[in-house]
Amino acid sequence: MKLLLIGAQGQVGWELARRLPALGTVTATDRTTLDLADPDAIRRVVREARPELIVNAAAYTAVDKAESEPAVATQINGDAPGVLAEEAKRSGALLVHYSTDYVFDGEKPGAYVETDTPNPVSAYGRSKLAGERAVMASGCRHLIFRTCWVYGPRGRNFLLTILKAARERPELKVVNDQFGAPTSSGAIAEATVRAIAANRGDGIYHMSAGGRTTWHGFAQAIVEAAGLKTPVLPIPTSGYPTPARRPRNSILDNSRLKNDFGIEVPDWREGLREVLGQVLR
Ligand SMILES: NC(=O)c1ccc[n+]([C@@H]2O[C@H](COP(=O)([O-])OP(=O)(O)OC[C@H]3O[C@@H](n4cnc5c(N)ncnc54)[C@H](OP(=O)(O)O)[C@@H]3O)[C@@H](O)[C@H]2O)c1
Repeated sequence: MKLLLIGAQGQVGWELARRLPALGTVTATDRTTLDLADPDAIRRVVREARPELIVNAAAYTAVDKAESEPAVATQINGDAPGVLAEEAKRSGALLVHYSTDYVFDGEKPGAYVETDTPNPVSAYGRSKLAGERAVMASGCRHLIFRTCWVYGPRGRNFLLTILKAARERPELKVVNDQFGAPTSSGAIAEATVRAIAANRGDGIYHMSAGGRTTWHGFAQAIVEAAGLKTPVLPIPTSGYPTPARRPRNSILDNSRLKNDFGIEVPDWREGLREVLGQVLR
């Protein structure tokens, strides 16, 4: 099977680049070889690679910056997946794409299921929802995995930020009224490869780690597991103002992934142990 991986230098993309070769011959692109802001380049790269499977791990993920440049975010997260989907439809390829809990407003008391109505509260969330809709409207075969709170051993992420801050500062203050499940890039890539290999399913699937915590709980677990003594103080969201609003509740119900594919992403604490094992080596 010929595969095209887009965004191979991102957190999830980098992990996919290490696992997808088990499924076939991979052509991998990053921003230097394919800029998703250029629709003609997208068409050219897809037509040259002639893939049976396209995995799009690239995205505009600067949530706060998206508030001041929503058009760029929409171009990369909304329009580009639409062009990829058109190309997939044209050639009969399967498109695997990622989305986010930020398509929801976070006001639901329980875990979000795939059929819950999206209502993004940020420019980033709106741009990602536009991408989902463009992929679905194209009529191509697709799997859209909505995940949440992604981190890993490389890139820009909460775990690496907290580790650095805990070594440099006397104490940390972290938000404790937003709920989610930190999901490692490696676990997402692992689950993605298993889902593709199963060769079934269609549409949107929630794909997040098991369990739940807050950013404060996650930070505390990181600091403790790293053997650091830095105090981690809980603060409300109002004590840490950001340009973009975040959902209060980011918990995703992963039952559909389990029922259709038999896949369960391990508990977030297990993911953390594994990633810290790599980072602190
Ligand atoms: N990170 C999270 O917490 C989170 C949460 C929920 C869902 N997701 C979704 O999960 C997927 C993977 O996210 P991730 O955390 O792996 O993201 P990431 O680490 O930020 O990687 C995204 C990659 O996309 C690339 N990219 C950005 N603009 C591009 C452009 N115009 N052309 C080509 N490449 C471009 C980036 O390159 P540069 O580094 O050069 O910008 C980066 O390598 C995305 O769909 C994201 O929306 C992420």
